[in-house]
Amino acid sequence: MQELPTIQAPPAQGPELTPEEIKAMSAEVRELAKERDAVILAHNYELPELQDLADYVGDSLGLSRAAAATDSSVIAFCGVHFMAETASVLSPEKTVLIPDLDAGCSLADSITAPQLQAWKDEHPGALVVMYVNTSAEVKALTDYCCTSSNAVKVVEHIWEEHGAETEILFGPDMWLGAFVERETGLVEDPERRARFHVWDGECHVHAGIRPDDITEMRAEHPEAEFLIHPECGCSTQAMEYVAAGDISGEGVHMLSTSGMLSYVEQNPTGSFIVATETGMLYPLEKAAPQAHLIAANRMAFCKYMKMITLPKLRDCLRDMTGEVKVPPEIAEKARIPIERMVAIG
Ligand code: 13P
Ligand code: SF4
Repeated sequence: MQELPTIQAPPAQGPELTPEEIKAMSAEVRELAKERDAVILAHNYELPELQDLADYVGDSLGLSRAAAATDSSVIAFCGVHFMAETASVLSPEKTVLIPDLDAGCSLADSITAPQLQAWKDEHPGALVVMYVNTSAEVKALTDYCCTSSNAVKVVEHIWEEHGAETEILFGPDMWLGAFVERETGLVEDPERRARFHVWDGECHVHAGIRPDDITEMRAEHPEAEFLIHPECGCSTQAMEYVAAGDISGEGVHMLSTSGMLSYVEQNPTGSFIVATETGMLYPLEKAAPQAHLIAANRMAFCKYMKMITLPKLRDCLRDMTGEVKVPPEIAEKARIPIERMVAIG
């Protein structure tokens, strides 16, 4: 069979910088940040040079918290558009800049506000839980936001506060939805499961990490533990292996990006198969240089995250461009589910 051509690395965003250029431009960015009274936030998937100069690097929940807590008047967001919108919603008086306004998210694009409204209309009285990977318009129609690190907690909180009978619309990530169903025991309870509806969206990067990747990696590295992002298309397969006794449950960890970091920090000499966007290997390597880290799928890179580059960050701070501002009427409504999530933890 003829082999299909594959991409071996993310497409470059402009000419590659030498280490000297990175050093000089990083110093320029830090200087500009001081002048502009800007805090630089970066997601764990961002390019190493951006993570190295950021004031805070983290997962979606940590970044939301950092955006809400900062005293700086400008937030330069090295992440994707919905993350910058969340910062704008939480800190409407601040100027939020993103180095490339086109840095979107395939998962956030998988549900629109009219689609969510139509879904709500089909289930009057249901509470809506949406992943933070959604637009501000979608959040404005949402009761609770969640991230990969607190989705289970948020759903359990709803049952405690509103009763175990509460109908829930969960989206847009179906793999995260399946993870919540497993973790909360819904899979064994068809009656309760029928009241938990999951949207069928997915992230193209994580959905691309397939069960076969897990099978192959398990055969190649039988000693390694699995660190799996709950958005992954392989997460269900991994849990099926656990259920069948093929992999020990102790060796499989479903974690947000920062959850992976804490786990590796606590086990710095272990072997880990990392099932998430490959940018995550950089903060993991930095935190635990002795660890043996293996990407579950080397092709899992998010082209949107990689649209943010050091020259673009420099330009946006220098020219104060790329502002993300959520209209007040949307922001007011979108703030409620985000604040509820941040309060739950
Ligand atoms: P985390 O919240 O785990 O960082 O995930 C965000 C994201 O976009 C995953 O693709
Ligand atoms: Fe969105 Fe997926 Fe990229 Fe995360 S990895 S920002 S969910 S497209």
